[in-house]
Formats: sequence, C-alpha cells, structure tokens
Amino acid sequence: MNGVLDLCQLTGLSNEQCKIILGVAQNLQIIADISQADIFIDCLLEEENAALIVAEAKPATIPSLYQNSLLGQIALEDMEPGVLFSLKTGKSISGSRGITEESGVMQQDIVPIKDLAGETIAVLIKEKDISREVQQEKNIGKLMKTTEADDKQDVIKSIIVQEIHHRVKNNLQVISSLLRLQKRRTSSKEVANVFQDSISRISSMALVHDHLAQSGIGEANVKTLIKQVASLLVTSSSTPDQNISVSVEGESVFCPSDKATAVALIVNELIQNSIKHAFLLRDEGNIDITLTVRKQMVTIIVMDNGCGIGDSFLPSETSSLGLQLVDMLVEERLQGVLSFLQSDKGTKVSITFPIIESQD
Ligand SMILES: Nc1ncnc2c1ncn2[C@@H]1O[C@H](COP(=O)(O)OP(=O)(O)O)[C@@H](O)[C@H]1O
Ligand SMILES: [Mg+2]
Repeated sequence: MNGVLDLCQLTGLSNEQCKIILGVAQNLQIIADISQADIFIDCLLEEENAALIVAEAKPATIPSLYQNSLLGQIALEDMEPGVLFSLKTGKSISGSRGITEESGVMQQDIVPIKDLAGETIAVLIKEKDISREVQQEKNIGKLMKTTEADDKQDVIKSIIVQEIHHRVKNNLQVISSLLRLQKRRTSSKEVANVFQDSISRISSMALVHDHLAQSGIGEANVKTLIKQVASLLVTSSSTPDQNISVSVEGESVFCPSDKATAVALIVNELIQNSIKHAFLLRDEGNIDITLTVRKQMVTIIVMDNGCGIGDSFLPSETSSLGLQLVDMLVEERLQGVLSFLQSDKGTKVSITFPIIESQD
C-alpha cells in the first residue's frame, strides 16, 4: 500500500522539484520492503511551520507500524521536531527513538531530499520497530548482572549465535518477500514457477534458522524440521482440489545448522517433486517420510504412491535443477549417498549420511 499526493498543487515547489520528489516516491515500496520499515516523504508547508506527508509506503515484508494511512496528514513542529529540523536545515538525523501506536519502540531516521541547486525540498523518513532489539538489550543487561564472571563468555556466545540465526532468518524472509512481489508481476506461468521454486527453497532454509534461534542450541531437530517443511509445502504448493497427506515417522535426529539446512533443502525438493509430478492424474496421494538412525548413520526415506519416476532414473543425468541440487547437497554437504529405490508403486528416494564429523 502506498500513495503519492499531487505535489505541485499542495506545496509551493516548482515542477522540476516535484519531479525529483516523484522519482524518489516511485522507489518507496522497494525501500520499505528491503529495510522492513515504514517510509514517508514529507514536504515543508512554510506558512504553517508544519510538514505535509506527501508519500508513504508500508513494508510488505513485516507488519506496518501504522493501522491507517498517514498520507495527506500534517505534522506540526511540536509533534515532529526532527522532521521540521531536517526540512529547514537540510541535515540528516539518524537513530532518534519514539513510541509506536502499539506502545513499542521505534527508530526514526531522516535524510533530506535536495534539488539540483542543493536546496532541501523534502525529507525521506524511515520508521522501524526496534522493540525486539531494545528488549534484547535489557535481557542481556539483566543476565550479565546475575551471571558469574566465569560463565559470562558462554552466555555472550550463545546470545550472539541466537541473534545471528534470527538475523539470517529475517534476511531470508525479506528475500522471499521480494521474490514474491516479483512473481506477482509476471504473466508467464513458467517464470512464476521458477520464482515459486526459489521462494520455497529460501523458506525451507529460513525454517532452519527460525528453529535454531528459538531452541537456543547449536543443533536442530531434523524430524521437527522435516515436519515443518512438509506442512509448509502442502499448504503452499498443492492445488485446492488435491488431497495430499504427509506423514513423518521415526527417530529424532539432531544436526548442526549446515547439515540441517542441507536436509531441509533436500526434503523440500523431494516433497515438491511428489506434489508436482507424482499425482498428476489423481486427486489423492500420500507422501511418507521415515527417519532411522543406526550407529550414527542417518537414513531418510521419502516415498510417494504416485506414478513413479522410471526405473533407470539417474539424477546426475537430468537437466533440471531440482534433483541435481539434491544430488549435490547429499554428496558435498552431507557426505552421504542418494539412491532411488525399487518400489512397486510410486517413487522411493533414500539418503544416508553420517552425523559424526569426519576427521579430515
Ligand atoms: N516423485 C516423483 N514422481 C514422478 N516423477 C518425478 C518425481 N520426482 C521427479 N520426477 C521426474 O523427474 C524430473 C526431474 O525432477 P527435478 O530435477 O526436480 O525437476 P523439476 O521438478 O523442476 O521438473 C521431473 O520433471 C519429473 O518428470
Ligand atoms: Mg523438482
């Protein structure tokens, strides 16, 4: 959601100056999406000592700080001293904090928009919810006070690791939101499918980091992850008239983040394939996934009761990306083996890999 007001009528600015502001306004949505913040352009109303909100964009990647549109509203100096200061002096302000509508904490950054002569004609404002970061700072402060000196390093390390996973997840979500926006703009089904494949790969990777950020330990429960990937795919990829059920059985296996990410991507491709290719001529299907662990060797079997992939199928010989990616991930990231098993009905794929670190 965004909008731009008819500038020249409302402000005393020249045509040329309005064109510059409109140029910036055209990119407002993408700025809001990538920075995960509400973005505004304000112009000065000289007689009134106030600013007019002439353009706005709400982020598509996270909830906006505002329930309603602020377009056309007037900000008085008392309410928005920073905005007026920046409009009048042409100086940037970054890092000032305020309170959101929901009583959270937000950070406001303001930069001037200038014309070719260097005169400030508007300001670009970014407002971002930083409640989580502020809460985190408080928690760390508290923890530091109560933790014994010897344990402090460990506490700091675990907080940093958790924070990194959170940020990785967040960045991946922004990337998939941007791809989703691009997917909506294409009229080609083929291009939309390529975007959808990338979106689901990225979402599966984000699940791993979400899991690790929440669990607070360095290892992810692969069984839980596979369940999450499966339910995400069945809801996002199957068509409404398809009735596809997925079961995940077997033991819980814990893996470090790099292996867990590889497993999530592999399972993503295999389930995606079953949904896309196995049940073409039918409206019902089962996908069964089982995990077994024997002496630190993990085996994951993904099986569907669809039309089957053909007896002499070799992933290294296919020209499509999906199974090549699976082949590569199993070999290089898991140091494991991939095989297509004989099955009287449907497709049965097995991957086996060690969960101990190799010595080399
Ligand atoms: N579970 C399955 N059931 C039937 N056919 C499959 C299955 N998985 C893969 N295939 C076949 O193998 C081909 C290669 O798969 P893949 O490399 O993932 O490419 P894509 O899914 O993009 O077509 C598919 O196009 C499909 O014909
Ligand atoms: Mg595929």
